[in-house]
Amino acid sequence: APEPMIAPSILSADFAHLGAAADAVSRADWLHVDVMDNHFVPNLTLGLPVVRSLRQATDLPLDCHLMIDDPDRWAVGYAEVGAANVTFHVEAAADPVGTARAIRSAGAFAGLAVKPGTPLAPYLDVLKEFDTLLVMSVEPGFGGQTFMAEVLPKVRLARQHVNAGHLRLFIEIDGGISADTIEQAAEAGVDVFVAGSAVFGAADPGAAVSHLRELARD
Ligand code: DX5
Ligand code: ZN
Repeated sequence: APEPMIAPSILSADFAHLGAAADAVSRADWLHVDVMDNHFVPNLTLGLPVVRSLRQATDLPLDCHLMIDDPDRWAVGYAEVGAANVTFHVEAAADPVGTARAIRSAGAFAGLAVKPGTPLAPYLDVLKEFDTLLVMSVEPGFGGQTFMAEVLPKVRLARQHVNAGHLRLFIEIDGGISADTIEQAAEAGVDVFVAGSAVFGAADPGAAVSHLRELARD
């Protein structure tokens, strides 16, 4: 199996010191940036200006997770300011394929996110337009929630399609990933593990990244 990838979520970091938070997890693979607009989810975080500044503050690839309405309008901007991966929610998009193509044309990976209650099967056909699939394992909006193992069949379904050669994408999981839950997600076939509170709530965030990666290895 390829090396598991860890993407610490800065949602659980100190927003006054985001550069220092990125430095603390420099051994991570991606830095996960949760963009919330207080409409798609009942919480508000940050947007384009902060991502633009963060891009200058770290060499880590920025994994932007847009929990916003109207991603068809806004998502490409995150690619233009240098995000490596721009993931938006299928529940919010009117034209997921057009938006994915715009993101890719701007030089970033395109990602599709599904909430816990959203089935994956109807979207298997459009996934060829994407580089990542983000399976939410909590209701989007807040860090520190309990992992929902009932989403793992979606991970297994995506993994089957990737392994059969029907799709080529990173399978990412987001929500409630910790030392207690990461192994079951890895077993289901996840490539990229987002972890917020389990990393930035730890005394040593860098060591937490290494520990999670170790546990996710077969
Ligand atoms: C929640 C966000 C997650 C969040 C995960 O809506 O998408 O990225 O930061 O936090 P933990 O790992 O604490 O569940
Ligand atoms: Zn997220």
